[in-house]
Amino acid sequence: MTWIVEQDRTWAEWAALRILRVGPVPNHLAIIMDGNRRFARKEHKDTLVGHTQGFHKLTEMLCWCRDLGINEVTAYAFSIENFKRSKKEVDGLMDLAAEKFAKLLEEKEKMTKHGVCIRVIGDLNLLPSRIRKLTAEAILATRHNSKCFLNLALAYTSREEISSAVNELSRGVAEGKIYSSDISEELLEKCLHTRGSRDPDLLVRTSGEVRLSDFLLWQSGFSCLFFTKVLWPEFTIWHLFAAVFYYQRHYHTLSEARQQSLALRQCVVEESDIESCHIKFGDKVSQEHIIAHASARVERIENFLADLNNQRLNYLQQMASEGND
Ligand code: FPP
Ligand code: MG
Repeated sequence: MTWIVEQDRTWAEWAALRILRVGPVPNHLAIIMDGNRRFARKEHKDTLVGHTQGFHKLTEMLCWCRDLGINEVTAYAFSIENFKRSKKEVDGLMDLAAEKFAKLLEEKEKMTKHGVCIRVIGDLNLLPSRIRKLTAEAILATRHNSKCFLNLALAYTSREEISSAVNELSRGVAEGKIYSSDISEELLEKCLHTRGSRDPDLLVRTSGEVRLSDFLLWQSGFSCLFFTKVLWPEFTIWHLFAAVFYYQRHYHTLSEARQQSLALRQCVVEESDIESCHIKFGDKVSQEHIIAHASARVERIENFLADLNNQRLNYLQQMASEGND
């Protein structure tokens, strides 16, 4: 089963695609692929058949997204909570991931041809070392591709993601790389596993459950949420069309709310610069002081983030070489 699925569209599908592409199309789609086990039970098959069908559905959906012009997808593949499932199911899912990442490495040239970049978000330390190695290899092998992005959430929860970002920030302060006054929403966001991604425009959950289950809680504050009853392995291009149509109907209120939040965030950072200068220079504070203060802050933050990115790259390179000695 390949990662790059190519499908012919029916006449009706092409017509729907053309109509939807006239309106705003989400840049980034997040998906909670739920209902694999219920599907397997309904079909009197083993649970793992449901997950395997679920993987196949994900690759099909990437093809539909390409046709629609959605260039980033973040999929919830395995939450930290999922480790509590039976050993048989967890091992089965890990074997499936290992098989698919090995296949991805085989298909590296095809991935490059289509410009597909794979990123994995989550606490990779929680994964068995053979999966961690394959995951790191897959990330490194596709990291320069930039036409479309697939972010797989593996051993992921938002709470872990946010607490690990807070830890990075407090370490930065303790090591004197940043000041505690440098910490802002924007900086915390740049320490999340999803740094480098824009927030999802549309978040879809299948199987009739209407909660986020600790998925992208920070990032989806201004996303359009679409819940559908269909089980993930039974999801079709028409369900995706329905979700995109729903997004288009709510597009204006969503984008207004997002813009207001971004403007407010900018004001908070500017006010904090002014306040810090007042504390330092009292009544003698000038516009030059504020500009110099802001540019020193920007430089400190840039250096801190560059360090963080280097550390993460080193970690991936180390994981990829694990067991090769
Ligand atoms: C939720 O359905 C699905 C999962 C927990 C696993 C999803 C994983 C895949 C689709 C495969 C991912 C593949 C790779 C390579 C990472 P559920 O098990 O909660 O089903 P239920 O809600 O019917 O019980
Ligand atoms: Mg479920």
